Amino acid sequence: MTMLEKPAFPPGADAEQYARSLDEEDHLRSFRDKFIIPSKENIKTKKLEKPDISDEPSIYFCGNSLGLQPRATAKYVQAQLDAWSTVGVHGHFRDLEGSPLTQWQLLAEHTAKLSAPIVGAQETEVAVMGSLTTNLHLLMASFYLPTASKHKILLDWKAFPSDHYAIESQIRGHGFDPKEAMILIGPDEGEYEISTEKILSIIDEHATTTALFLMPGLQYYTGQRFDMQKITAYAQSKGLLVGWDLAHAAGNVPLDLHDWNVDFAAWCTYKYMNAGPGAIAGLYIHERHGTVDYSEGSDKPIFRHRLTGWYGGDKVGRFNMDNKFKPSPGASGYQVSNPSALDLSALCASLSVFNETSMLEIEKKTIRLTGYLEHLLLSGTEAATRAFRIITPSDPGSRGTQLSILLKPGRLDTLSEMLDEAGIVADKRKPDVIRIAPVPLYNTYTEVWKFVQIFKAALAKCENEIGNMSNGVAKITVK
Ligand SMILES: Cc1ncc(COP(=O)(O)O)c(C=O)c1O
Repeated sequence: MTMLEKPAFPPGADAEQYARSLDEEDHLRSFRDKFIIPSKENIKTKKLEKPDISDEPSIYFCGNSLGLQPRATAKYVQAQLDAWSTVGVHGHFRDLEGSPLTQWQLLAEHTAKLSAPIVGAQETEVAVMGSLTTNLHLLMASFYLPTASKHKILLDWKAFPSDHYAIESQIRGHGFDPKEAMILIGPDEGEYEISTEKILSIIDEHATTTALFLMPGLQYYTGQRFDMQKITAYAQSKGLLVGWDLAHAAGNVPLDLHDWNVDFAAWCTYKYMNAGPGAIAGLYIHERHGTVDYSEGSDKPIFRHRLTGWYGGDKVGRFNMDNKFKPSPGASGYQVSNPSALDLSALCASLSVFNETSMLEIEKKTIRLTGYLEHLLLSGTEAATRAFRIITPSDPGSRGTQLSILLKPGRLDTLSEMLDEAGIVADKRKPDVIRIAPVPLYNTYTEVWKFVQIFKAALAKCENEIGNMSNGVAKITVK
């Protein structure tokens, strides 16, 4: 993993004026206008309303859950509604002048091309399809081929429940016992960060009995980013196939899946990729797993096993209806169904914004913006007196935008109510964590500054209410 330098902040960085000066210098500042920022009133409303009913924007730090809507989305989706209402079924095969998009038959491929730079893949290594958990199942159907002696899966100790369930059911479906076959990789007792050495040592310990390594590239709860390149190479050297769940990494941190030689990966697009709630997902298959070999005859394609459907068939023969499956080469050969053109359009709208910059440029701001958040949270108090602890690694190379703040027990509900009241959108994870994700494309340094003032005041109030507070800081250390 490349070493990233931690930003330094001068004395005076705690002043609002300093935050404003960072916004003025921000090389991505023009991007904020490309998104619809809900107002403070909007965010609390219980009625369906048009956005912007007041000028005071909320502070939206929840792009790790649902990214904000790009202004381009309405135009892109409307174009598809118009295509459907004007040319009906012909929209599948007809490019329409004036449309920002292609005919529906080519739209998934077009979207895959736009997605490839975000994950560092070749264009043919990406397919845009389905949803994250469904895709993980499809990928395991192809990449989890256990034998009696080699059937374990190495996964994250706090895997997102859907990943945990998917892996558990795959293992069970093959007739093995999840209790024995699911090997959870976790940190040392009392810690949250998992060292690369620990991961490699667990790989060593189980290599001879393991079929698959499947971890998140960036952990949803702690915000830790793993050294995907090093871990991939090591696990593969021990005979494991390696897949990554990039739900929290895609659109958040630069990725180089092809050069890292990753076998497969999957991600959703509704978080950092701003494609909308439940939007269509993406997957990556290394080119070596997408080859189709006709050396045994044109009717006998040789290809990696997968669960097939007609949209994985080569475009040339897809409508021959001859029930002879010839996969499309590359990741598109893993497609199953006809994808939703409306969904694809929403993702294309967001990708059009991403592709005006690059993940490396985005990362430059992430390092400063999240670094500033960390600096302000920690400044002015001693670790021993804080009522919270940041459990996300402090090394910028081991995290993305998100900081996870572990509160002392009993504060979460009151604190998050106060944040809600102040128009701050953050995400709470029971029992005691709030996750704050300032997103470089639409969040500002001034928002970070305001958030920290409100967070500290809310926490102080919480402490007062609980009754063990002295001068705005708690007496008990968070373990
Ligand atoms: C790490 C991770 N895996 C899986 C999922 C589930 O995604 P989906 O509901 O799109 O299948 C999520 C959703 O937030 C997630 O964060």
